[in-house]
Amino acid sequence: MALLRFDQFQEQRLYGDGGFYMSGGAAGAGGDFFTAPELGNEFARAVGAALDARWNLLGRPCPFVVVEGGAGVGTLALGCLQLPLDCRECLRWVMVEVSEVQRETAMQRLMGELTVDGADAIAPVAAISDLGRARFDHDVHFVVANELLDNLPVRIVRRVDDAVEELFVEVGVSSAETVWRAADGGATTRALHHGGAVADGVEFPLADRMALWVHQAIELVGIGGEVTIMDYGATTGELAQRPNRGWLRTYDRHRRGSDPFDLDHPVDITCDVPFDQLHRGATCMTQREWVLTHRPQASDRNDPGTVALLDQNGVGGFTVATWVRR
Ligand SMILES: C[S@@+](CC[C@H](N)C(=O)[O-])C[C@H]1O[C@@H](n2cnc3c(N)ncnc32)[C@H](O)[C@@H]1O
Repeated sequence: MALLRFDQFQEQRLYGDGGFYMSGGAAGAGGDFFTAPELGNEFARAVGAALDARWNLLGRPCPFVVVEGGAGVGTLALGCLQLPLDCRECLRWVMVEVSEVQRETAMQRLMGELTVDGADAIAPVAAISDLGRARFDHDVHFVVANELLDNLPVRIVRRVDDAVEELFVEVGVSSAETVWRAADGGATTRALHHGGAVADGVEFPLADRMALWVHQAIELVGIGGEVTIMDYGATTGELAQRPNRGWLRTYDRHRRGSDPFDLDHPVDITCDVPFDQLHRGATCMTQREWVLTHRPQASDRNDPGTVALLDQNGVGGFTVATWVRR
C-alpha cells in the first residue's frame, strides 16, 4: 500500500507506467476526447492569425520561434504550418509533449505531410519532452498551449478552522482509498491565500504546477513575446461551489464521469483551471470571442466543427488567457 498526495496519484495515473497518456490515450475522433484543433481547421486559422499579428508587432523576426505546450499528436502544428501565413517562411515550431508515443506520432505526421522545398531544407519542426529543461538556440517569440494546463496534476485541499488539510490516496493493488492529512506549510499558505473566500470544509484544487508552467513560459519568451493558453476553468471560488468535486473531470473514450480512483483501466484525469491562481496580468476572454477577434469570417461558417468551436456552452465557452512579456 502506497500513500500518495493526490497530485502524485494523478501524475502516476496519467504519465506513470501504464498511465493514460503512456498507453495510447489521445485527442481526436479515434481517441478519448475532442479538442479545438480536432474540430476542423478554424482553430488553427485563428492561432495562425494571432501568430501573424505577433510576428508583425515584433518587427518580423526570422526565425520566428513558436513553442507549443502539450502538443499531443501535432494537429495544431500541422494545421498552422499548412496555412499561407505571412510568417510562414520564418516559422519554426517546437512541440513540447511529455508522452513519447504522442511525440513520435506527431513527428511522423508532420514529416510525412509537410512538403519540404529543396533537398537541403529541414522541416521547421522539432519535438521535446519538457519545457522546464529545454534550451533554445534562438529567442522564443510565442508560446501556445491548448488544453495542457487541465492535465497538469493538482493538489486538493480544504480549510478546517484555521488549518488546511490535503487529500492523499492510499493505493493498493486493485483499489485506491482517499484520506485527509494536515497540509505542509507551503500548501497551507497558498491554500489560505487562494481559497480565502472558500467556506470551511469545502474542497478546492491548488494548481501549483499550472502556475509554474505559465511562469516558465513567460520567462521563456523575450520582451514583447506572447504566451497564450486555452482551457476550461473559472476562479477558485467559483470552482469550489461546484458539488461533488465537479471541477475534477475524467475522460474515457469520449465519455465523461468515470471514477478517478478506479484502477481497473487508465482514464484521463483533468482539473478545471483556477485562472486566479495563475500569473497576474493576463488578458482573458472566451474562446468564442478570441476566435472571432482573430477570424471574424468564422462567424459566417456553418460547418459542424466551426459551430462547435464557437458554441458558448461548449468549447467556445473555454477561456483564452494571454500574457505579453514586458
Ligand atoms: C488534453 S491533451 C491536449 C493535446 C493538444 N494540445 C490538443 O489540443 O489536442 C494534453 C496533452 O498535454 C500533454 N502533457 C501533459 N503534461 C505535459 C507537460 N508537462 N509537458 C508537455 N506535455 C504535457 C499530454 O501528454 C497530452 O498530450
